[in-house]
Amino acid sequence: MNVLKSFERAVKEFGLEDKCKIARTGCPGTCSAGPVVLVEPGDYFYQSVTPESAQEIVKEHVMRDVPAKRFLYSNPEFFSKQKRLVLRNAGKMDPLNIREYISRGGYTALVKCLTGMSPEDVINEVFKSGLRGRGGAGFQTGQKWKFVSKAPGSPKYIIGNLDEGDPGVFANRTLAEADPHAIIEGMIIASYALKAEKGYLYTRAEYPLAIETLKKAIQQARSLGLIGEKILGTDLNFDLELRLGAGAFIAGEETAILASIEGMRAMPRPRPPYPASSGLWRKPTLIQNVETLANIPLIVLNGGEWFSKIGVPHCPGTKCFSLTGKIRNPGLIEVPMGITLKEVVFDIGGGVPDGRTFKAVLVGGPSGGCLPESQLHLPIDYESLTKAGAIMGSGGIVVLDDESCMVDTAKFFIEFCVDESCGKCTPCRVGLVKVKKVLERIAHGKGVEKDIDLLTKVGEYIKEASLCGLGQTAPNPVLTTVRYFKDEYLAHILNKECPTGKCDMGTRRRS
Ligand SMILES: Cc1cc2nc3c(=O)[nH]c(=O)nc-3n(C[C@H](O)[C@H](O)[C@H](O)COP(=O)(O)O)c2cc1C
Repeated sequence: MNVLKSFERAVKEFGLEDKCKIARTGCPGTCSAGPVVLVEPGDYFYQSVTPESAQEIVKEHVMRDVPAKRFLYSNPEFFSKQKRLVLRNAGKMDPLNIREYISRGGYTALVKCLTGMSPEDVINEVFKSGLRGRGGAGFQTGQKWKFVSKAPGSPKYIIGNLDEGDPGVFANRTLAEADPHAIIEGMIIASYALKAEKGYLYTRAEYPLAIETLKKAIQQARSLGLIGEKILGTDLNFDLELRLGAGAFIAGEETAILASIEGMRAMPRPRPPYPASSGLWRKPTLIQNVETLANIPLIVLNGGEWFSKIGVPHCPGTKCFSLTGKIRNPGLIEVPMGITLKEVVFDIGGGVPDGRTFKAVLVGGPSGGCLPESQLHLPIDYESLTKAGAIMGSGGIVVLDDESCMVDTAKFFIEFCVDESCGKCTPCRVGLVKVKKVLERIAHGKGVEKDIDLLTKVGEYIKEASLCGLGQTAPNPVLTTVRYFKDEYLAHILNKECPTGKCDMGTRRRS
C-alpha cells in the first residue's frame, strides 16, 4: 500500500496524471521479488520496489521515458520454463475492473458459446481437450460434465471449489485475487453447457482479499448482464453466490463441501452416489476446482484439440504450483504438465539457497510424498507422482534442504492431518493418532526397530480403509520418508541421534 501511495503521490507531484494511470493488480507469482510493479507499454517489470524507488521510477520511466534499469526484475529463469494459461492475466490487469478483463478477450468465450455453440458442443470440446481436474484427483473434466448433463433431476448446481486448505498452498487464492473473472466465466459457461441455473463459489473466511475481489467481480458481472436472468439477452439464467467456509481442510473434499453449503458441518460421506448424480440437496451437481474452471474459456476459444496438445497426451495442459520451502525463487508458477521436478526445483526455483544442498521435495501438500533427489527426473503428471508415492494434490511443492529432519517433517504433516481429521471414520481418526504416537516415540529416542514396519503397516491400512481422500492420502509423508529415508529413521532409533542435528533428538545428543 505504501508503494501504491508513493506512485500516486509521485505522479501527482510531477503532474503526470493525464499521462499515467495507476492500478492495483493481482500477484504475478514472484513472491521473493515483491512488491513488483509493471509499467506498460513495454512490459517493464520492476522488483522489490520501495516508496523511494517508486519516486525514481516515475521520474525516469514515466516522465523521461527512460526505464530505470537498476530496479528492473533480474531473475528471468523464474519465468523461462513456465507456460501461463490460467495465470494469463495475473499481475497484468486490475482485477477489480471487469472492463480490463473484457479488453483482454474476457467473456468472448461465453459469447461464442451463446451465439454459436450448443450445450453439447461445449461439453464435447471440453471432453476433447482431455482436461483433468486440478483439485487433486485428476478426474476427466469432460467426462464429469457428461455425467452431470445426463443425470436426471433438476435443478442442477455448479460449485467452484476454492477452499484450498493445504498449508503452504496459495495458487487458487492468488488466481481469485488476480483474475476472478476467469473463474466466473468458466462457471457461467459450465452453467450453459449443463443447464444449471445456480452456482456457488466456495472459499474460506481466511481469504479476505480473495473474498473482496470475488464479491466485486460478481457484482460487476451481474451489472453487465453476465450473471442473472436472460444473460446477454439469451434464455440463459445463472445465479452465482459466494459461500464462506470456516477454514477446515476437510471442507474442500467434495462431499464435505456439499454438507457445508447445505448448512451442516463439513463432513464427508461415502461415494457413490457421486455428486454428479446426487449432490446439493440430492440434485446433480458439478464440483470443479477453480483452476480447472479458469481453463474452460481458453478451451472454448481455442478448441479442445489445441488444449490437448499442451503438456503430455495423457495429462494435457498446465498446472499451477505454490513453490515454497528452501528455494531461491519461491512463488506461484504455472508449468506445462510433463515438466520434470528437477526443472521446477532448479531451473525455475533456482535451487537451494544459503550454500545448503537439496534433500527432498514434498509434492502434493500435507498428504503429499517426500521425494529424494533420485526421483527428480520424474515428469509432473498424476500417474508418475502417484507411482512414486506422492500426489498432485492442489499443487503444493515444498523444497527441503540437508538440514531438514525427515522424521520431524513426517511428524509435522501427520500432526496437521490429526488436527484436521473430521473423526467420522475410525481408520483416519484412530490410525493417524497411532502413527503420530509412533513418530513421537522415534523422535524422542524411544523408538524400536520394528516401529518402522508398524508405521508402514498402519499407514497402508489407513490409506486403504479411510472414508475419504484425507485419510486415503494422509500417511503419504510417513510412507515416503520411510521408503526413501529409512537410514534417517534407523539413526533416530538405533543411534539415538538425528543426522541433521536439527530435530529435538539432535539437540539432545549434542548437549
Ligand atoms: C481433504 C481434502 C481436501 C480437498 N480440498 C480441495 C480444495 O481445497 N480444492 C479443490 O478443488 N479440491 C479439493 N479436494 C478435491 C475435491 O474432493 C474434488 O476432487 C475436486 O474439487 C474436484 O474438482 P476437479 O475435478 O476440478 O479437481 C480435496 C479433497 C480432499 C480429500
